[in-house]
Amino acid sequence: MVKTGPDLQPLPDAQGVAQAAADRIAARVQDNPELTVLVATGLTPMATYAELARRVRAGELDMGGVTAVQLDEYWQPGEGALHGDDPRSLWGWMQRSFVEPLGVRRTIRFGDSSDPLEVCARYDAAVQAAGGIDLAVLGLGPNGHLGFNEPPSPAHSGTRRIDLSTESLASNAVYWHQAVPPQALTTGMATILSARAALLLVTGAHKRAVLDRVLNGPQTPEVPASLLRTVGTVILADEAALGSGAPVGEP
Ligand code: GLP
Repeated sequence: MVKTGPDLQPLPDAQGVAQAAADRIAARVQDNPELTVLVATGLTPMATYAELARRVRAGELDMGGVTAVQLDEYWQPGEGALHGDDPRSLWGWMQRSFVEPLGVRRTIRFGDSSDPLEVCARYDAAVQAAGGIDLAVLGLGPNGHLGFNEPPSPAHSGTRRIDLSTESLASNAVYWHQAVPPQALTTGMATILSARAALLLVTGAHKRAVLDRVLNGPQTPEVPASLLRTVGTVILADEAALGSGAPVGEP
């Protein structure tokens, strides 16, 4: 793949990011109605999905031919992947925010299993059979993670079970007002980096320091999202996340 820098699109606010992201996703779907999309949950992309849902309801967009691919799921040691009906399940969140409101009929998910190797192998085989990922829609973890590729996650890291970092446990507990399992399944960096296109959505002042590392720091497995700079990624970020443009830590 040709090495290019990230294409940064600054937007005034989170709603601007949602509009721009929805425009880009809709344009891809219009070009290829059978697009395979890797779908992040988390709070950042929710306004984007709501805008896509509005367009679908208005008859402006048809996402029925899209295949939606799960990015990550919590894993309870001794039990396995959280079931979709667990209120904290990321598959459940993806269904409520993306699959159902957008009328998506085809999905690839981790599925229920107590064997991490088996569930990851099945997932990878399904992604491969679908022809790989056309578009990855990603959020930025507080420590630079993508999905649950916690630092350090090298570019070749595969789909796997992983121990969650203290930062991820804290940021994810906020979603549910309760603790989350200590482990997770995540799509590997290898799959994310082989996507034909990627959108990284970043909003809010709390992401400013980590976004600065992603954009301006060394490309390193210690900041997994910095590895996106080697592929054609579009970063949509609001002013709060970008700050005034001055490097973080400088007056
Ligand atoms: C979470 C998820 C990611 C998500 C990221 C950012 O831990 N595992 O998939 O993209 O962190 O979340 P948020 O958008 O809520 O800031």
